[in-house]
Amino acid sequence: MDLRFLFIIVLEILCVAIANGNGNDLVFQVERRKTSLSGIKDHDDHRRGRFLSAVDINLGGNGLPTKTGLYFTKLGLGSPKKDYYVQVDTGSDLMWVNCIECSKCPRKSDIGMDLTLYDPKGSHTSELISCDQDFCASTFDGPILGCKAEIPCPYTITYGDGSATTGYYVRDYLTFDSVSGNLHTAPQNSSIIFGCGAVQSMGSSNEGALDGIIGFGQANSSVLSQLAASRKVKKIFSHCLDNIRGGGIFAIGELVEPKVSTTPLVPNMSHFNVVLKNIEVDGDVLQLPSDIFDSGNGKGTIIDSGTTLAYLPIIVYDELMSRPGLKLELVDQQFKCFHYAGNVDDAFPVVKLHFEDSLSLTVYPHEYMFSYNDGARCIGWQKSVPQTKDGKDMTLLGDLVLSNKLVLYDLENMVIGWTDYNCSSSIKVKDSTTGIVHTVGAHNLSPASTFLNGRTLTFFLLLTVMLNCFSN
Ligand SMILES: *[C@@H]1O[C@H](CO)[C@@H](O)[C@H](O)[C@H]1NC(C)=O
Ligand SMILES: *[C@@H]1O[C@H](CO)[C@@H](O)[C@H](O)[C@H]1NC(C)=O
Ligand SMILES: *[C@@H]1O[C@H](CO)[C@@H](O)[C@H](O)[C@H]1NC(C)=O
Ligand SMILES: *[C@@H]1O[C@H](CO)[C@@H](O)[C@H](O)[C@H]1NC(C)=O
Repeated sequence: MDLRFLFIIVLEILCVAIANGNGNDLVFQVERRKTSLSGIKDHDDHRRGRFLSAVDINLGGNGLPTKTGLYFTKLGLGSPKKDYYVQVDTGSDLMWVNCIECSKCPRKSDIGMDLTLYDPKGSHTSELISCDQDFCASTFDGPILGCKAEIPCPYTITYGDGSATTGYYVRDYLTFDSVSGNLHTAPQNSSIIFGCGAVQSMGSSNEGALDGIIGFGQANSSVLSQLAASRKVKKIFSHCLDNIRGGGIFAIGELVEPKVSTTPLVPNMSHFNVVLKNIEVDGDVLQLPSDIFDSGNGKGTIIDSGTTLAYLPIIVYDELMSRPGLKLELVDQQFKCFHYAGNVDDAFPVVKLHFEDSLSLTVYPHEYMFSYNDGARCIGWQKSVPQTKDGKDMTLLGDLVLSNKLVLYDLENMVIGWTDYNCSSSIKVKDSTTGIVHTVGAHNLSPASTFLNGRTLTFFLLLTVMLNCFSN
């Protein structure tokens, strides 16, 4: 599967319908529910001031391209609560699930679970977000011209692998596991806004189907930001993605143990961008153009759990791949694979990425190589595809290099960091109100795994595209 970044679809119909203020032209027939907004608000007000200690997010899946190629969690939505399996993605912001209008959405996942379409009418706490609400205006960076109260607030996201979801925003209760003791959780809920996916189009592959995606990005629209805005959590989370046994640890809350060194997040970026300084291969620093890793103009280095592999600028990739002195035997178009029976750590170089503030990321051959058919060993590093017309390209670090490490995203202090870690062990997080430290352990939801290709999710809420159509 070739990587296709930033594949932009402008949904003209939606665009025109809303710009004209004519709700009847909308592609989605949505019945507006008159649910009580005040009820939800009272409930929230009642809970305000209670600071959630931490949240334990049950992980399943596996970051190996030959297994599921993604990590997911199970969330409860609505009342009565139903469970939804969503991919955990730090490379996008929004949370969405497929909705009842979606006729082509999968009902069963080849990962092994039954999928559920969210039905706003099936939840008595569900509320439609209309385009005149503040949330909608903020996702479009301003008021929407031609908006009328009865028009639902639309969204569209297209991911890097060409898959896309389009729908409208709803508000409902999210039920999650709040950390209440050592390796103990208690259900908690919060009213949040998420996307109700009416149309889903898959990219090159229909595999690894799930109900939706939970984006852990920095935007105000992310679940993390919404929980933080209602003072339920601090904007700090960590994950330890276990691609050996599957699943791993994922917790929202202040990390106490292990200690991790950090590097600053580049401010004002829509993704988790960090500053990569140089790359060392078996102790030699690669000689590269000085601006190769600069942020901006579609370049820079992004940390993204929603991407399976790791993508390097072409120059970097070529320089790296010129290193191993082995004869390549291409057994697959997609990957560079070798027949090699020995320990790959003996034959391939260690790759060390150096970041701002002296943080480094060591990637051993057994981590960046994976087994393929007939015992072939393939290299997980991929060539990035230029983002812009002038051929600049980015570095995208996915599960290939993020797995088997504890990765900390601290948005309160705008830093990100990691340390080598045993992802089937546990971490310690602090309750921000009481200061009590609790242990959060590893999980492995639905360990069934199937042969799937790697996915490259992420990227660009197309809201800017939508915005352009509104401002016309
Ligand atoms: C939210 O949690 C509270 C307390 O645990 C519970 O009483 C209430 O029914 C829950 N609400 C929903 C909509 O799940
Ligand atoms: C995000 O939310 C914060 C706090 O509520 C607010 O100050 C900020 O302006 C918001 N940003 C955007 C882009 O809406
Ligand atoms: C980030 O953006 C905000 C608002 O757009 C601006 O005030 C601030 O100076 C920017 N910060 C940096 C470091 O560019
Ligand atoms: C990782 O942690 C688990 C659970 O504590 C333990 O059983 C296992 O032996 C550890 N693995 C290593 C390599 O230390």
